[in-house]
Amino acid sequence: MRGKLITLEGMDGAGKSTHIPSIIQLLESRGLEVVSTREPGGTPLGEKLRELLLNEAMHPETETLLMFAARREHIATVIEPALARGAWVLSDRFTDATYAYQCGGRGVSAEKVIALEQWVQGDLQPDATLLFDVPVEVSVSRLASARMPDKFERESAEFFTKIRNAYLQRASENPARFRLINSNQALEAVQANVKEIVMAL
Ligand code: TMP
Repeated sequence: MRGKLITLEGMDGAGKSTHIPSIIQLLESRGLEVVSTREPGGTPLGEKLRELLLNEAMHPETETLLMFAARREHIATVIEPALARGAWVLSDRFTDATYAYQCGGRGVSAEKVIALEQWVQGDLQPDATLLFDVPVEVSVSRLASARMPDKFERESAEFFTKIRNAYLQRASENPARFRLINSNQALEAVQANVKEIVMAL
């Protein structure tokens, strides 16, 4: 049986990555093989592209194209083979991040991203997307204490407001796929919410 693709999304500072170990544990306790991965990255080439994407200034469309180049490699060499052998793939970010950051944040046209999505993914879409949502002030104050902020983490509150709005818009357009998580609660409460969602999957 084909596996499922579960993606985690949210602004920088939304706290999504904290929940990865417990999600893996939950799925493995059900006897599933889990492949935990991330974007940009997830392959040796993708990790090299990630270095560039997180550190180098570039034109917004160059950024979009490199995100999709990394994604093509990721799908071809990691995601598709895993799904085909029945594993569940947990990806820390996927294409919704491109809609949020490159379209919402940088103003790249959605038509261009739709065309790239079609080319790179064909019919592949996440089976479920957990969107960790926090108010922009919370995200910005968490990022202010980050030791070595990357190119995206150094962005303004105005940029993050666009990211958050774009994510919420994506969620409202794809209600069957998205699970919205209020990440501005005590960690135990968020954990309980995540557990409930994952068990239901
Ligand atoms: P991370 O901090 O969650 O690992 O993600 C790395 C950064 O890359 C994050 O700031 C969001 C950004 N990003 C995009 O701008 N577009 C994309 O398509 C992806 C996957 C990530």
